Amino acid sequence: MAGKVATFRIPGQIIFGTGAAETVGTEAKRLGASQAFVLSDPNLQKLGVTDRIVASLSAQGVRPTVYAEIEFEPSVQSVAPAAAAAKTTRCDLVIGLGGGSTLDTAKAVAALTRNAGQAEDYLGIGLVRQRGVPSILMPTTGGTGAEITPNALFYVPAAREKKAIVSPHIIPDIALLDPLLTLTVPPAVTAATGLDALSHAVESYTSLNASPLTDLYALEAVRLIGAHLRTAVANGGDLAAREGMLRASMYAGIGIGNAGTNIVHALAYPLQGQHRVTHGVANSLLLPYGMEFNALSNLSKFASVAEALGEPIAGLSPRAAAARSTQACRLLSQDIGIPQTMREVRIKAKDIEELVDGAMKMTRLLVNNPRQVRPEDARAIFERAL
Ligand SMILES: NC(=O)c1ccc[n+]([C@@H]2O[C@H](COP(=O)([O-])OP(=O)(O)OC[C@H]3O[C@@H](n4cnc5c(N)ncnc54)[C@H](O)[C@@H]3O)[C@@H](O)[C@H]2O)c1
Ligand SMILES: [Fe+2]
Repeated sequence: MAGKVATFRIPGQIIFGTGAAETVGTEAKRLGASQAFVLSDPNLQKLGVTDRIVASLSAQGVRPTVYAEIEFEPSVQSVAPAAAAAKTTRCDLVIGLGGGSTLDTAKAVAALTRNAGQAEDYLGIGLVRQRGVPSILMPTTGGTGAEITPNALFYVPAAREKKAIVSPHIIPDIALLDPLLTLTVPPAVTAATGLDALSHAVESYTSLNASPLTDLYALEAVRLIGAHLRTAVANGGDLAAREGMLRASMYAGIGIGNAGTNIVHALAYPLQGQHRVTHGVANSLLLPYGMEFNALSNLSKFASVAEALGEPIAGLSPRAAAARSTQACRLLSQDIGIPQTMREVRIKAKDIEELVDGAMKMTRLLVNNPRQVRPEDARAIFERAL
């Protein structure tokens, strides 16, 4: 948007590279920590990943306490026991080691070290009053970009909704990214989180809040995903592909952290809240339809998305070039074995009205959409995605 005033926020430090995880102990020490509260998930603990982080901390004289009872796609209530455990250790550092579920829980736990009450009290925009103790977030899926963003997402069972804590105070002090941590992610999770990252990249690139700064990262994220996602799913041990995807998810996180998501995430949230479809799958089901709907708002940006995904667009009309972006996205999603229809995740035609109601409540995201979304538009998209 030419001439628009835009703020750009990212973590104070981003450390990225093969073997970077081994530096967690020295970084913790540098932050002045003596007692670290490490949130991780049970699978990473079984794989021995958590132990390596603990060893790095202990080697620097930082005492770690591990909390590995993370709930996947966490409910807001699941934060309370983690926050209580953190308080009893009197920790001066919170470390999140895991996928988006763990990182979001860690962000809320860190905030609650210095903000009274429970996570529920902070669901909404700008309600966190101050930063918590310092935090280091280490993503192990490539991924949500949660190590970058000011958002933490939780399932609220009573409302059957997914809601967010949104505050610059929950951006971590350090995002520490090591592609080696992602080598063991199973293909289905790689595929789903990879398409979540693609949604982040495309939505932030085409958001009304996009700026030249976010465009740089968002478009490069699309290119990296086009180049690396298929290989990362086909051969999880391919380090170059994993590195490409981890970098892409971080760049896409910079995109959404500053320009936000829009129609795809808005329509995908009720699939998660009402039907417990996982975040990445919910977004991937709606991504091509959201892109198709939005394409006419900015043909040239959608043509750039097509090109970044490897589509030849030379000689095509702007409209045909933009349409290639949707096609490329569908092919990618088919190739990596993601469900293609809402029926495959047990959603029925009779569920659509409630989905439309849920989507229209996502005004936080819909205001960023480059084309106005009316209930009949949301309904038509859900019907096509069924
Ligand atoms: N805060 C944000 O900005 C943001 C952005 C997007 C999504 N999210 C949230 O993130 C959550 C989803 O996170 P996710 O998709 O990263 O997955 P996840 O954290 O839910 O984990 C999914 C599965 O992958 C496994 N796993 C993770 N890393 C692994 C590894 N290295 N090796 C083997 N298995 C591994 C986990 O054990 C789990 O079984 C959702 O709740 C979503 O709402 C947050
Ligand atoms: Fe997402």
